[in-house]
Amino acid sequence: MSFDLVFFGGTGDLTWRKLMPALFQAFRHGKLPAGGRILAVARDERTDEGYREFIRERFAEVDASKRPSEAEFAAFAALLHYQRMDVSKPDDYATLKRWIEERNADTVVLYLATSPHLFTTVCEQLGAAELNGPKVRVVLEKPLGHDLASAQAINQAVRSVFREEQAFRIDHYLGKPSVQNLMALRFANALFEPLWRRECIANIQITLAEALGVGTRGDFYDRTGALRDMVQNHALQLLTMIAMEPPSSNDADAIRDEKLKVLKSLKPFTPESVARDVVRGQYRAGNAEGKSVPGYLEEVKVPAGSSCETFVALKTEVQNWRWAGVPFYLRTGKRLAARDAQIVVNFRPVPHPIFPGAAQANKLVIKLQPEDGLELHLLAAKGSAANDALSSVKLDLDFDRAFPAERVGAYERLLLDAIAGRLNLFVRSDEQEQAWRWVEPILNAWAADGGSLRTYAAGSWGPAAASALVARDGFAWSEEQ
Ligand code: BG6
Repeated sequence: MSFDLVFFGGTGDLTWRKLMPALFQAFRHGKLPAGGRILAVARDERTDEGYREFIRERFAEVDASKRPSEAEFAAFAALLHYQRMDVSKPDDYATLKRWIEERNADTVVLYLATSPHLFTTVCEQLGAAELNGPKVRVVLEKPLGHDLASAQAINQAVRSVFREEQAFRIDHYLGKPSVQNLMALRFANALFEPLWRRECIANIQITLAEALGVGTRGDFYDRTGALRDMVQNHALQLLTMIAMEPPSSNDADAIRDEKLKVLKSLKPFTPESVARDVVRGQYRAGNAEGKSVPGYLEEVKVPAGSSCETFVALKTEVQNWRWAGVPFYLRTGKRLAARDAQIVVNFRPVPHPIFPGAAQANKLVIKLQPEDGLELHLLAAKGSAANDALSSVKLDLDFDRAFPAERVGAYERLLLDAIAGRLNLFVRSDEQEQAWRWVEPILNAWAADGGSLRTYAAGSWGPAAASALVARDGFAWSEEQ
């Protein structure tokens, strides 16, 4: 199957840092369909050769194991092309169209790796140039809006030119291998489904913790904050995968219909419940990644006195028969104690303990980062004395070890899926808008009352109030258990 893949924003950070290395990995693994061309478009004047050289230099900055040898790069670079383009100029789209038509590939993927404020213009121009035929797919990178109205405006612009099944909205968390395995765990194993409900589960915790600070992205981050950057998209997408009903098939819309139902069942926030159930924090100087690091307010490009949150913890519920009364705790933050992304399903303890010691319970940990894996914590007797307390032991599945040759990064998978036209791992517009609808009352409550900002030391697990949020219900975050 021949394809043309066009990157708008072809010289931007996202393209050279994530997309090109991911494409190169797909190429190296022999997964990139043969007969493909990759075109980068951007404002400055460059030749194909000049662009190849630019990417070659940038590859020196990516993770050493992902760098190509000279021979590999030469083979990959032959696929790369460049076109200068002003995205507001119809003539430049006509040039692009000629380039695409002269080849007439089976599939054309237009990847908008630009600043989102250009999405509307680019879509309108693509429509005007009739670059929206049935073979064309458009890939949209986050942030897709900063609130419901702006997300709807982008979706409207996309919808006026493309059909929904041509729109591939990226949430790169959906491309992570553990998220795939979550689908397999739930819907390919009969073992868990009977337990996957309020009768057996005490609470569910989703943690997306980063050890890094905001780095050089202070200006972007300060306009965004952790709620928009991580909760509205990544954390909610994971929540839908955990909480959804079994879909009737593995088709994109069967899955996305079920995810949407979860988003619609989330308990709506009110100003009172925001004050009670949402913790907002910002890091101060501390020790992270083995060194002393500055606080958020000292980071480059962060405005003086900013009250932007770098941490959010919240409690919500999925209001349906399966989950009524089960708390879902979400938390995310920068400069936390570790890079650690995981979902913890805490089961209820046995109804009548017969062993000595405090009653413990099973838990299932789905690990997304730093490694992919599954841990099932069971209680077992050490075997010394009959009246010894039980110990918690874990069945530990490391996917990297189980499938060493199969490791595919999130962007690699998503790019291959976009080329192949598989929408399962992409977000539909109604899901994305519903997520904004749910998040917006939190933003509004913060705007109205200043959103009491708590501080935490870099390298900690966030403000003490986040532990109190969970302790109030008689639970603890997994690292405190
Ligand atoms: C991005 C956020 O969507 O996800 C970043 O904008 C964040 O702020 C990143 O650092 C985290 O992704 P990952 O895959 O490194 O956990």
